[in-house]
Amino acid sequence: MCGIFAYLNHLTPKTRKEVLDFLVNGLKRLEYRGYDSAGIAVDSADGRNVSIIKKNGKVQALQDEIYSREADLAFEATADCHVGIAHTRWATHGTPSERNAHPQRSDEDNTFCLVHNGIITNYKDIKLFLTKKGHTFESETDTEIIAKLMMHIYKKNPNDTFQEIVEQCIQQLEGAFALCIKSKLFPGECVATRRGSPLLVAIKTKTRLATDHIPILYGKDFRPHGGTAAETLTAASLMPRTPSTAEFQPMEEDKQVEYFFASDASAVIEHTNRVIFLEDDDVAAVKDGTLSIHRIRRNMDDPHAREITTIKMEIQQIMKGNYSFFMQKEIFEQPESVVNTMRGRVNFDTQSIVLGGIKEYIPEIKRCRRLMLIACGTSYHSAVATRQLLEELTELPVMVELASDFLDRNTPVFRDDVCFFISQSGETADTLMALRYCKNRGALIVGVTNTVGSSICRESHCGVHINAGPEIGVASTKAYTSQFISLVMFGMVMSEDRISLQQRRRDIMKGLQQLEEQIKEVLKLDSKVQELAKDLYQNKSLLIMGRGYNFATCMEGALKVKELTYMHSEGIMAGELKHGPLALVDETMPVIMIVMRDPVYTKCMNALQQVTARQGQPILICEKGDKDTQEFASRVLEVPHTVDCLQGILTVIPLQLLSYHIAVLKGCNVDCPRNLAKSVTVE
Ligand code: G6P
Repeated sequence: MCGIFAYLNHLTPKTRKEVLDFLVNGLKRLEYRGYDSAGIAVDSADGRNVSIIKKNGKVQALQDEIYSREADLAFEATADCHVGIAHTRWATHGTPSERNAHPQRSDEDNTFCLVHNGIITNYKDIKLFLTKKGHTFESETDTEIIAKLMMHIYKKNPNDTFQEIVEQCIQQLEGAFALCIKSKLFPGECVATRRGSPLLVAIKTKTRLATDHIPILYGKDFRPHGGTAAETLTAASLMPRTPSTAEFQPMEEDKQVEYFFASDASAVIEHTNRVIFLEDDDVAAVKDGTLSIHRIRRNMDDPHAREITTIKMEIQQIMKGNYSFFMQKEIFEQPESVVNTMRGRVNFDTQSIVLGGIKEYIPEIKRCRRLMLIACGTSYHSAVATRQLLEELTELPVMVELASDFLDRNTPVFRDDVCFFISQSGETADTLMALRYCKNRGALIVGVTNTVGSSICRESHCGVHINAGPEIGVASTKAYTSQFISLVMFGMVMSEDRISLQQRRRDIMKGLQQLEEQIKEVLKLDSKVQELAKDLYQNKSLLIMGRGYNFATCMEGALKVKELTYMHSEGIMAGELKHGPLALVDETMPVIMIVMRDPVYTKCMNALQQVTARQGQPILICEKGDKDTQEFASRVLEVPHTVDCLQGILTVIPLQLLSYHIAVLKGCNVDCPRNLAKSVTVE
């Protein structure tokens, strides 16, 4: 995902080259998060303007560009006080390009320049408002409206301080953001703020700081009657404000100071370990070398100050947070990543879903002959997981295909087919070849990827970006659950006007709304799963059985076990048990069975009894509190109940955790299993 880094030096002379190197190196520290373009804003060589340099692609390309402009940028000149902001962008609104890269600016004079992580959900309303006020936009980003809104506010209240302008601006924003802003009007000052996206300020002084706390200053609420941002914008049109009454308390510290702002600590730890983690709606402002933290209003239990913490972790550790491996981190990110997939699309109040990337094509898709879902590996399993629901909600034939096999068969494809290509990376060669094959035959191509600007994205007619954030562990986890939800959302869009499906849709909506909390609950099974892993890790084989909505979980769980632990594992369709796999079952063969209270419950119970009758000792994944089912099991992992078609999201997580713990116990390389690659770009 996007990365923010900013650097401010006050009375600590640095050559401009040093400043530029700091910015570029800060971005390099954030590269692991994944991104597609990068940029910086610094004072121009004469100090009177702001220069923005942006580059599509890697930070290295940005660095090469900066170095090619050495004379222009006056590398050897010294700046006593300077503010530079930098960013790596992971595209969400608008393709990866220099135009859409950050910093984004308020106007051609670069009056306000800012970098942004997150998504502004009401950007269209604000854009409309600003367009009516005569602002023109140069990018496709949601971010640009923030810079332009600051300009608008400044023009209304030219005597406001930088911090006050930012405070007024963020009160109009909805969604998630971390922002770092630089302004030509306020040289030597930097303002940073956040809501929903992480941001920290790090402090470096020659001597130890005289304080461990920065007091919080409270101001005035600029939004006259609460309400939504759009309402406030049009109703009040940014009312003239009353000056803040908060007392200004300068920090007692060394006057020579450097500040770093970053979206995560890995970018600053090489400079200083003294850090303040900003909270939602904090506005941190540096002016004349003094840092102050402002908030609009104080709630009863809010602290009076933000603590300066000393971080002791190594860089590598910080990148992974408190997790030992990226895969573990990504498993635990799922409460957040599923929400990101739905963000700005699912409206739980109006019970509606809009998928902006395919909206225009829905009438055409409704007229199609059949849907084909084509993918590889885990992405293929997300298609298996949602096929039944898509058949139900679209009332169309749905074919689910492994890309390689689909190509081997020269499968007939027609102009009135709609073909979905599901791929985390958007670069998988087999999936891409299958896409081109279908495109040549005139089918409508829909991409479902996690990587904006990837080949599959570019070559599709339309698509859904799953917004799971970068996935670094080779074995896919959070991308699977986000692909799953993206396909469910598609089914919901297709069934919007079906009267007979309204109750079903309401149940699914409720399920989607509860997912975040329910995933958090499933993740609490972690230590229990770890214990289970201790019992299983020396086995040669592991069978995972289920049917109906949970068959995909069996296949995906078995794939995770294979990939990570090199142990043989098979996902078995319980309906096929008697046709072969039952021969494998005895008292030594570990069997995991998924038995939910869904339409195939009785059939699953039959399979369970067939296993216990052969002395098998099944480990059950079942619904919380389902004591009747648990009677038949040697061990149980309970997951919360949700609507049948979403249950697979909750049942797959214990298996992700299990494969992870077995891999750790066996000493396998969790993030990079042998012989495997994250992105398979060869056929
Ligand atoms: C590789 C990865 C898998 C992934 C598969 C498909 O095999 O190791 O984790 O599921 O490719 O990748 P895609 O990027 O197309 O989803």
